Amino acid sequence: METHKQLTIGLFGFGVVGEGLYKVLQQTPSLKASIKKVCIKHPEKKRDAPAALFTADRDAILNDPEINVVVEVINESGPAFEIVSRALKSGKSVVSASKKMLAEHLPELLELQKGTNASLLYEAAACASIPVIRNLEEYYDNDLLHSIKAIVNGSTNFILTKMFEEKLSFQEALLLAQQLGFAESDPSLDVEGYDAVNKWAFLLTHAYGIVEPITNLVFSGIDHIQAGDAEVAREKKYDIKLVAQAKKLVNGKVAAFVLPQFIKQDDHLAFVKNEFNGVVIESGFADKQFFYGKGAGSFPTASAVLSDLSALRYEYKYEYKKLYHHTPHELTDDFYVRTYISFDDLKYIPKEKFQSIEEWHADNDRKYLVGVIHFRDIKGQTWWRENGTSLVLTPDPIIDDMDVRQLKKKSLELAGLI
Ligand code: HSE
Repeated sequence: METHKQLTIGLFGFGVVGEGLYKVLQQTPSLKASIKKVCIKHPEKKRDAPAALFTADRDAILNDPEINVVVEVINESGPAFEIVSRALKSGKSVVSASKKMLAEHLPELLELQKGTNASLLYEAAACASIPVIRNLEEYYDNDLLHSIKAIVNGSTNFILTKMFEEKLSFQEALLLAQQLGFAESDPSLDVEGYDAVNKWAFLLTHAYGIVEPITNLVFSGIDHIQAGDAEVAREKKYDIKLVAQAKKLVNGKVAAFVLPQFIKQDDHLAFVKNEFNGVVIESGFADKQFFYGKGAGSFPTASAVLSDLSALRYEYKYEYKKLYHHTPHELTDDFYVRTYISFDDLKYIPKEKFQSIEEWHADNDRKYLVGVIHFRDIKGQTWWRENGTSLVLTPDPIIDDMDVRQLKKKSLELAGLI
């Protein structure tokens, strides 16, 4: 029996991803999906597709009853949200790759989805070719998901790989990432960690039912990392990567952040180089699983859009199981982290806030310490990202409150005080 829906697509955006999708669809006739119109901002620009396909008028897509799917792959978050809301309200399903828009408007988008039979799918918005959202949504049961650790930004990973392995300068590596189409139009979104935390915001919804604006998530990019940090990493046989992490603590609440981290050579994430992304999931019975694939670029991102389009033929929708079918988890900042901090001048470092300082190197030009600090002494604080200070978490950085009490008790016992 033939039940698959014919998909008539209105495409918004014809940049790296939009054009990639156009080409990929031409090579996938079996999908029964065709692009009827493409809405673009600059109609004067020469495109590698028939001119009749293009319009600068949104309504040519949004008011066309024959178009049943809107694919939205534009850059600006505000216009993207308007397009997606109008499409959903008029019963058109939507496939989006706009991570910033999704992160900024998640609560409204959740409400909008309740009021429509149309689907909103966005697998391409996080980790591009890796099917991470559908896996988190469908496969992992809430109670079993212990932790997720991921590289979700291809550009920063590309830059770090080129700097570490090919000794390119930051600027050279960034330029290359831009030329290859991995970087955002405004590359500070990549470099300062915004792109990664935007993705992490809605991945946390699918993983744990957490709906938080990025202002409630601690994050930074790779722009504070200094040559001296890379040297220390090399001495310790570590890589530095920008890692998005979430872990369920003993009390059932979730610790989550996006920060640079030292990665051991035998860690799965050490294997993730260039524009690739990787996700390591730890669950109750399956132990560790590792997802790996291209996280940026034209065809890898288009492949995820294509997969969402295919899922629409079966009227697939996200159920947001962790949010609606389970008790959602709560984000917490009540835990400790073990971190490396390098600095130019000790006066900028709140030494007294460290529970313990395990390494101390104050004799070099570039000074550093490794110690354990409460997360609240990082969250909402700026000392660790200004005055030339740089923070890189150590491997397995999250320390539960309970464990710190144990550590303290042990050290007091050792000192013969109790
Ligand atoms: N600028 C993004 C990245 C593109 O580098 O990961 C893919 O979302």
